[in-house]
Amino acid sequence: MKKFIAALSTFVMLGSLASCGGASTSESSKESKPSTNTESKTDANTDESASSNTDESTSSGGKTVGIAMPTKSLERWNRDGEYLKSQFEAAGYTVELKYSDNDTNQQNNDIQGMIADKVDLLLIAAIDGNTLSQTLADAKDAGISVVAYDRLIMNTDAVSYYVSFDNYTVGKLQGEFVRDQLKLDSEAGPFNIEFTAGDPADNNAGYFFNGAYDALKEYIDAGKLNIPSGKVKFEQVATDKWSTDTALENMQNTLASYYSKDEQLDVALCSNDSTALGVAQAISSDYKGKNVPIVTGQDGDIANLKNIVDGKQSMTVYKNVSDEAGVTLEVSKAILSGQTPDGSLISSFTAEATYDTESYDNGVKVVPSYLLVPYVITKDNLDVLVDTGLYKWDSDNKYLESTAETT
Ligand code: GAL
Repeated sequence: MKKFIAALSTFVMLGSLASCGGASTSESSKESKPSTNTESKTDANTDESASSNTDESTSSGGKTVGIAMPTKSLERWNRDGEYLKSQFEAAGYTVELKYSDNDTNQQNNDIQGMIADKVDLLLIAAIDGNTLSQTLADAKDAGISVVAYDRLIMNTDAVSYYVSFDNYTVGKLQGEFVRDQLKLDSEAGPFNIEFTAGDPADNNAGYFFNGAYDALKEYIDAGKLNIPSGKVKFEQVATDKWSTDTALENMQNTLASYYSKDEQLDVALCSNDSTALGVAQAISSDYKGKNVPIVTGQDGDIANLKNIVDGKQSMTVYKNVSDEAGVTLEVSKAILSGQTPDGSLISSFTAEATYDTESYDNGVKVVPSYLLVPYVITKDNLDVLVDTGLYKWDSDNKYLESTAETT
């Protein structure tokens, strides 16, 4: 049954993802009303969704799940929102899905709205992990459980569980990729590297940076890897809102200030794909060197996969967010049926994950965490993405596209 639901939800998702675009002007609008057959979807899969709701509605007990995503302007959250929505609906839940335009006030308001709507559970990918304490206290008072989705929510005792990937490992994989590409254990170097990190309001961003930095620290300390800009601290290389434009501008400034003569940039270590996109653009337009710098990323965004094929980005750390949604569904099902999920829940997952009760301290409590496994994608193993069923080769067999786009 589980496999059937997973297959079904992928199928349903293919239709619903087709309508998902870039930045939206109606990010706070309710994405989905209670899942009745009156939804104004035009895709052929709507009936599949509705019938699965009927099949599963006894176990879900007619419960409603409120899902708060940060923004539509970064590709991955569109995928997360749609996977979560389709998988929860396929399991018989009613879903209220909101995007909050990367605006913390708006996200607080959106969540307050879902509390007022008496949702039974909240799944939240926080824009700023530090700004939701009061709202989540209200959720707690209303008896609504909260699961932190992908990003840990800080300074609150109202969050019950955290579902994410092993964030430190994401950064570590990037650092180890650089180590292997430059053969830092055997080559003398020195090589030049610059870092671009994520949003300081996102608790994940520090883990990514630290994972990468720690993997390279011994080579930096030994003088095999130099950082000509001198920007070695997270705060110096953080990128507000993970913005592509900000990353582009920052890298242009770095290139103008430290690489204007014949200095060679060997590595641009970027924490994720949205920043890597800007950095690769800055390198294309402003870098004077003859070499092609190594550029790292994370997420498997379509534009970045294209850059990987074109040699403008070297790798991305892929996180299967359909699996992340699936794990979140299992955790939520357990909570909503009155259980207290623990490590034994892992046996119900279709994806590999660990249960961690030590690493994620939000300042008030250590939040029990289910962490999925990220992996490295390069030009040479893009077929691994095709094997997930979420990507396919385009008609020229050159670039990858989402399986959702042409459905
Ligand atoms: C992080 C997330 C990454 C990346 C980034 C920007 O929290 O874990 O996968 O997408 O946000 O959206």
